[in-house]
Amino acid sequence: MNALLLAGGLGTRLRPLTENLPKPMALVANRPWLEHLIVHLKKQGIRHFVIAVKHYPEVIENYFGTGEKWGVNIQYAVEQTLLGTAGAIKNAEPYLDDRFIVINADIVHEIEIEPLLAFHKRHGGGVTIGLTEVDDPTHYGVVEQDGEGRILRFVEKPRLEEAPSNRINAGIYVMDKEMLRYIPEQQEVSIERETFPLLIEKGEGVYGTVISGYWMDMGTKERYRRIHWDLLNRAYRLPLPGRQNGKGIWIGKNCDIHSGVLLIPPVLIGDNVKIGERSIIGPFSVIGNDCVIGKHVRCAETIMWDRCLAHNGVVMNNCIFGYDLEIGSKHILHEAVMSRIGVLQA
Ligand code: GDD
Ligand code: MG
Repeated sequence: MNALLLAGGLGTRLRPLTENLPKPMALVANRPWLEHLIVHLKKQGIRHFVIAVKHYPEVIENYFGTGEKWGVNIQYAVEQTLLGTAGAIKNAEPYLDDRFIVINADIVHEIEIEPLLAFHKRHGGGVTIGLTEVDDPTHYGVVEQDGEGRILRFVEKPRLEEAPSNRINAGIYVMDKEMLRYIPEQQEVSIERETFPLLIEKGEGVYGTVISGYWMDMGTKERYRRIHWDLLNRAYRLPLPGRQNGKGIWIGKNCDIHSGVLLIPPVLIGDNVKIGERSIIGPFSVIGNDCVIGKHVRCAETIMWDRCLAHNGVVMNNCIFGYDLEIGSKHILHEAVMSRIGVLQA
């Protein structure tokens, strides 16, 4: 059984970070989320991956190649035009096993595959959808189920008064390949708006089961930040890189942090980071690898990707900076989200 990772969306709500980057390549704790995802799924026994790519496909292909470095095998299903979530699955058909897993690659989670698969085998239908419960279901696909877990209705992004429950599509499916006969080739098709309702109507057996563990869609800036705060306060227990230097302070290899620097936990600092005297970093800050921070810098609730340079006296509050940004001295930045044109380095 292989896994298809849907990674071709435009990531519009995470712009400008995704201006020239596929959303699942956004860093989570200083590593592309897609890499965490592949490592996590490998631990669950999955060795064969297909990645459905469209927006900046070369960024993903150059980074992962054949997957050898991670001990897995990766193939790429490239779309020439945006095919939507079902169109992307159909496009990947030649690479898929008779039963396969589909994952929205922008979901940050710790899903266990085995219980989903066991449930799928038990009910015998064509599709199993992993579900989670949220307070506000209006941004997601919402389901109505019977007592056995069969999905009677699937409504994508309904208005609150139309949402049949607060159980939503967690963006992970087990599917039998025969189901793909319902998806036309080389057309834009949405699995949520078209294919799931059609499969339900045809009685193909679409079931859902609630998954456990951390779950968050990284698709908006608010949720992207939230994932990091959850990581830092350990509500989400993905192992953090670096060594813990006091409670809630993680520091990578080869850092040069002046003794007059104040680190306010929780903070995560990558490898080869330099921080000048009298700077205050934290709380809730993530500093990427190879960043250089000058003297008298104030950085709170901020996520900085690799190779950024913050000159002396900069103040950063609640910001997200993409790769290779340079912030001129004495700038005061509040809630800034910035990126620059550049290429991800493997
Ligand atoms: N290859 C490819 N081609 N991938 C795509 C395409 C496409 O045309 N369109 C979207 N994707 C990928 C995105 O990159 C993302 O990883 C995933 O499919 C889901 O797309 P989003 O744009 O993030 O959708 P969403 O978050 O609004 O809603 C989806 O996820 C929710 C869970 O977070 C839906 O599946 C909802 O039903 C679900 O609840
Ligand atoms: Mg999403």
